[in-house]
Amino acid sequence: MALSAISCIGVAIVSIAVYFFLFANGSKIHRNGKPLRRPPNTLPLVGNGILFLAARHKLFSWFVKCERQFGYETFRISVPTLPPGVVINDPKNLEYVFKQEGIFAKGDFFKARSWDLFGNGIINADGDLWKVQRKAGLHFLNNANLKVLTETALPKYLGKSVQALETTGSDSVVDMESVFHELTTQLMGKMAYNMEMHSADDFSVAFEYASGAVGERFQNPLWQISEVFLGAQLRKSIARVRTFGSVIVSNAVKQRHESGHEIAEPLDSVSGSLINSLLDSIDDETMVADAALNYLSAGRDTTAQALTWAFYLLMRHPWVVQAIRSEISAMELSQQNVGKAVPLFHPSLLPYTMATFYETLRLYPPVPFELKQCEKETTLPDGTYLPKTAVLVWCTWAMNRSKITWGDDADKFEPGRWLDGNGSLISRSASEYPVFNGGPRTCLGKKMAEVIAVQVIATLVTRFEFCPVDSGERISKNSLTLPMEGGLPCYVKKLPDS
Ligand code: HEM
Repeated sequence: MALSAISCIGVAIVSIAVYFFLFANGSKIHRNGKPLRRPPNTLPLVGNGILFLAARHKLFSWFVKCERQFGYETFRISVPTLPPGVVINDPKNLEYVFKQEGIFAKGDFFKARSWDLFGNGIINADGDLWKVQRKAGLHFLNNANLKVLTETALPKYLGKSVQALETTGSDSVVDMESVFHELTTQLMGKMAYNMEMHSADDFSVAFEYASGAVGERFQNPLWQISEVFLGAQLRKSIARVRTFGSVIVSNAVKQRHESGHEIAEPLDSVSGSLINSLLDSIDDETMVADAALNYLSAGRDTTAQALTWAFYLLMRHPWVVQAIRSEISAMELSQQNVGKAVPLFHPSLLPYTMATFYETLRLYPPVPFELKQCEKETTLPDGTYLPKTAVLVWCTWAMNRSKITWGDDADKFEPGRWLDGNGSLISRSASEYPVFNGGPRTCLGKKMAEVIAVQVIATLVTRFEFCPVDSGERISKNSLTLPMEGGLPCYVKKLPDS
C-alpha cells in the first residue's frame, strides 16, 4: 500500500515535470501574443515524441503532411528531452535564420549527439572554431585545386568504375550505391587525407556504422540509456575512426618535418592537401583530425547518395535519359563542327543534365532535415517569438515538396522546371531550395558536387543502359544523411557504340 502510494506520488512528480518541460516552458513561444498551432498526432505529455521514434522516411512524410496542412505557417512541436521547438516552412523565415549566424547556432542539442564522432570538426563547430576551418577549406578548395580534383582525379577513379561495370555480365546484379560509394571514397579520401581509400576498408566500414548509429540518436530521446546496453559496436566503430584520423595526421606532420615543407606529391598535382591546409591554420593535431574527418564525411556520403537517387529516378524516367543523351550528342557535334576536341562533361555545357541533378536533390536531398538552437531570444519575420535555447527545425525534404513554392506538380520528377525558355538553368534562392544550406554556412563543396555529378551521369548514361531489378519504390534508411535502404540493385548493359 505504502509502496503504491509512493509510486503514485513519483508518477505525479514526473508528469508535472514533463508537463512543465513540454508546455510551460514552450508556452513562451508565441506569435503576436497567441500560442502557435500544433500539428496532427500531438499527444498529451509525450507531444510529438512517439512520432520521432518512427522510421525516418515516415517522419519525412509526416513533415510533408504538416506542410500541406499549415502551408508557410510556423507551428510548434514538443518532444520529451528536446527544448521547446518550432518547425518553419516559410522561405522568408529560413532566409532570416541563414543570415543570423550569431543567433542560430548548432547548439548543445546537436553537439551532444554528434560530439564523439565529429568532435570539434566544422560540422559541429560554432564561432572562431568554425571560422578557422571554413577558411582552411576555402583556401584548399580554390579553383585550381577543384580543377585537378574534378579533371584529373575524378576521371581516373571514374574510369575504374566504368571498367568494373564493363566487365560485369548483363545478367549480374550490380548495386549502384556501392559503385558510387567506392568512387566518392577514393576521391574524397585523396582530397581529405591524400591517400588511397576504399569503401570496404576497416575505417570506411566503421565510419558508415557510426554515422548510422549517431543519426539514430536524433530520434531516440533515450539514446544515452539504450547505448549503455546496445552501444558496444558504436563505441568500437567510433574508436576505430578516431584512431585512424590521429594516425593520418601524425603521419602528415612527420612528413612535413622530414621534408621541411609540405607533403610530397599531394593529389597528383593539387597544390597542398586539405590536411596541409588544416595543419597550416590549426595547432592542435586532434582538431586537425576532426576537421579532416568532417570534410571527408560531408563530401563523400552526400555525393554518393545523390548519385544513387539520380540513377533510381533515371531508371524510372527513361525519357529523361534520352534527353540527356541528346544533349550530350548535340554538345559533341557542336564542338566537332568548330574543330575543337570534345571537352570533359561540365555543368556549363550540359544544362539539362545539371537540371536532372538539381531535380534529384529537390526530391531526395542528402541532408533532409536540419536543426538549430537559439543562442538568444529572437523574433522571426512572421512574428514568431523564440526564447533562448528554443530549437528551430526545417525539413528540406518537405520544403522541397511544397506546392506553394514548386507548384501543383511538386511531387513530380520534372528536370524541365529548372530551365527557362532558352534552355538555360534557372536558379532558386537557398531559402526556397535549402539543399546546400545557405548564408555563411553554405556547403563548401557545392560546386565540386555539381561537377562530379554531371561528369558521372553523362559518362555512365552514354556508355550503359541501367535496368532496375524490380519496380518497387525505394526508401531511405536511418542515418545522418540519405542512404538508400538495401542499396540500388540493377542490371547494367553496355551500349553497342560506347
Ligand atoms: C550533393 C552533395 C552535397 C550536398 C547535398 C551537401 C549539402 C550540405 C549541407 C546541407 C550542409 C550544411 C550542413 C549543416 O547544417 O551542418 C553542408 C555543409 C558542408 N558541406 Fe556539403 N553537400 C554536398 C557535397 C559536399 C562536398 C563534395 C563537400 C566537400 C568537398 C562538402 C563540404 C561541406 C562542408 C565542409 C560543409 C560545412 C560548411 C560549414 O559549416 O561552414 N559538401 N553541405
